[in-house]
Amino acid sequence: MEAGRGEVFFQSLLDDDTRPVPASLRATSTVGADDLDIAPGRYFEPEFHRLEVDHVWRRVWQMACREEQIPNVGDSIVYDIVDASLIVVRTGPSEIRAFHNSCLHRGTQLRTAPGRVSEFRCPFHGFTWNLDGSFAGMPCPWDFPQVDPAGFGLPGASVGTWGGFVFVNLDRSAPPLEEYLEDLPWHFAAWPLEERYISANVVRVMPCNWKVALEAFIEAYHTVAVHPQLLRTTGDTVTEYDLYGRHVSRMITPVGVASENLDRAVDDAEILEAMFITSDADLAVEPGATVRHVLADRMRASLQERTGRDFTHISDAEALDGIEYFLFPNFMPWAGFLTPLVYRFRPNGDDPDSCVIDIMLLEPVPADGPRPAPAPTRYLGEGETWADAPELGYLGRILNQDGSTFGRIQRGLHASVRPSITLGRYQESRVRHFHAALDAYIAAGD
Ligand code: FES
Ligand SMILES: [Fe+2]
Repeated sequence: MEAGRGEVFFQSLLDDDTRPVPASLRATSTVGADDLDIAPGRYFEPEFHRLEVDHVWRRVWQMACREEQIPNVGDSIVYDIVDASLIVVRTGPSEIRAFHNSCLHRGTQLRTAPGRVSEFRCPFHGFTWNLDGSFAGMPCPWDFPQVDPAGFGLPGASVGTWGGFVFVNLDRSAPPLEEYLEDLPWHFAAWPLEERYISANVVRVMPCNWKVALEAFIEAYHTVAVHPQLLRTTGDTVTEYDLYGRHVSRMITPVGVASENLDRAVDDAEILEAMFITSDADLAVEPGATVRHVLADRMRASLQERTGRDFTHISDAEALDGIEYFLFPNFMPWAGFLTPLVYRFRPNGDDPDSCVIDIMLLEPVPADGPRPAPAPTRYLGEGETWADAPELGYLGRILNQDGSTFGRIQRGLHASVRPSITLGRYQESRVRHFHAALDAYIAAGD
């Protein structure tokens, strides 16, 4: 199989790195020729949404929260996905459980918000369950002779953890999380995400199908039209795309490289200025060095200053490049350090025409002192944008550029008279790979 265009470019950049690079950055996986057609109806038809609910959302492992968001016994969050709702609760120092968030009496949601609890007491009539899900009692037990307290525990969902994230699966007979993650833990061996903390966590509802939003973040092809200000420092057209197992793909966008889409030359001084918004004289590129070497040194120093940790060993690529992994169906942890992002995309309840996007920033935990508390979750309201979350910094503006297209993509898909959308074979290969996994789950059915 011929190596992808971006793969050839990025792998040669690694040859020029000032440090040894982690093995995973060398683990390329060349894209096969695949012309899967994707019908527009997959983005809005209620029938297709039902297939996703039954065969994907009720079958897959999905990220529910970070462990740091439920650090103490009794800490709980509510994880909603389509028409299901789970309470995820820490039941022991190293034990987390998940329960269906529905009272066994007449169905009331037991929890509607995160918080520390000692039991789950329904607000309607007071049926109560212990933290471990066992039944604790109800008022007037004489009126429920049919209820055997021993068999009246809260139904549970499966729970697994990786990288400081808590994953849940509604299907109790699903294969374990370790199997589902495929090679993802191996890829992240050099970047332990459990040693990070949430410095930003921002949630926004957007007017498009969850896949429309997700797919805007698994290709760099849109950079030229959507993020033109990034072209001075972004190798959009030389991005490497890797497809691994059914659940995992990756892209790596080189940073500190001017885009081929610019119709003029960009010199080192302009790249430095664009990266740091400064024309700092001591940022000159010495003979024999490259602008990436200078930028990576600056990034290592900044990381060390912020965390007290030693970052001298990290490669230029880890310091600078946009290394983004995808775990089916909706979880995108970034590797490396310049943009420590995590994305999650979910349908907004049962509506195929809107979605919920979670954006997290995960900063390295400082070497000394207590682990910083995770940033509170900010829910952006109607009329607010990512730029209204100052904790996202410059990323707010970039995310707004992405988001500005979502509503019109959704409306345009409804208006399409073509049997399928038209995808680039390499730069949009992850979109096809994602839909192939969707199809496989739907075809497996049951
Ligand atoms: S619905 Fe929960 S106690 Fe009645
Ligand atoms: Fe974008």
